[in-house]
Amino acid sequence: MDIPEQRIKIAVQKNGRLTEHSLDLLERCGLRFRQSKDQLFCYGENMPIDILLVRDDDIPGLVHDDVCDLGIVGLNVVAEKRLELGYAGKEALYKQVFEVDFGHCRLSLAAPEGVEYRGAEDLNNRRIATSYTNLLRNYLDTQRVNAEIVYFSGAVEIAPKLGKADFICDLVSTGGTLTANSLREVETLLDSEAVIIQTLKPLAAGKQALVDKILKRLDGVLQVRESKYIMLNAPKAALDEISALLPGSEAPTVVPLDGSDDRVAVHAVCRENVFWETLENLKAAGATSLLVLPIEKMLA
Ligand code: PRP
Ligand code: ZN
Repeated sequence: MDIPEQRIKIAVQKNGRLTEHSLDLLERCGLRFRQSKDQLFCYGENMPIDILLVRDDDIPGLVHDDVCDLGIVGLNVVAEKRLELGYAGKEALYKQVFEVDFGHCRLSLAAPEGVEYRGAEDLNNRRIATSYTNLLRNYLDTQRVNAEIVYFSGAVEIAPKLGKADFICDLVSTGGTLTANSLREVETLLDSEAVIIQTLKPLAAGKQALVDKILKRLDGVLQVRESKYIMLNAPKAALDEISALLPGSEAPTVVPLDGSDDRVAVHAVCRENVFWETLENLKAAGATSLLVLPIEKMLA
């Protein structure tokens, strides 16, 4: 009997600031895929894992509705959808599994130059343009502010100039868009970065194993990005001090040095970035021949 092949689908932003990083992340997990003519569907060539390229705002919904098993999307979009479902009396059927350390931005309130803002109370009875109506509503409620939310699907930053709003609430990354539109950031509602979300729906055993495998690889890729392998020589007497200086490392490997009784070689995986200051401190503690190497793969 033929058992149909079980494939999993991962939703990724089609066109935007997360696209390249997301595809790169999946490639580093060993996935190879072929992009279709309509560019919406990438067929996984070496694993039964396909990629759906969609608007970022649709990603939580696709995972919630069980069209995709995993998604890579900004926390801002995930949080907005969770609130939207919540206000409708529903629960989000996805969970956040990792932060992936790209797509950093924040959802902020901004005011036009010349418009006074001393605190949330200045928003009372004013109009605020946003695409994030639920996150904004939630913020206004917690601040006990009564303001009108004006929905804009895009180009929120031009709303004040059009006379459609007094303030805006939108994503800020570099701040360039705000500056270009003579707006200034006055309040941060949410700090965001890209995250991986996973369906909460129970999967068939084969699919679940595949999801677990890819999550394990993602975890490995994310861990090695910051991790470094450090090698150095150290006086035995300074071993404790030197070990304590190694950032985020577990027990280092200590190896005898040929022809030396009082010096050893120390090897350690540091799960944090290793800065010049750390190397200088290690040197001051007696370490010599310091080497910092990138780690390509790691499997816990
Ligand atoms: C956001 C936001 C601004 C811009 C701000 O849009 O709506 O237009 O980025 O970035 P900056 O501070 O670096 O200038 P985004 O590109 O995320 O598109 P989307 O909201 O339509 O997904
Ligand atoms: Zn979007």
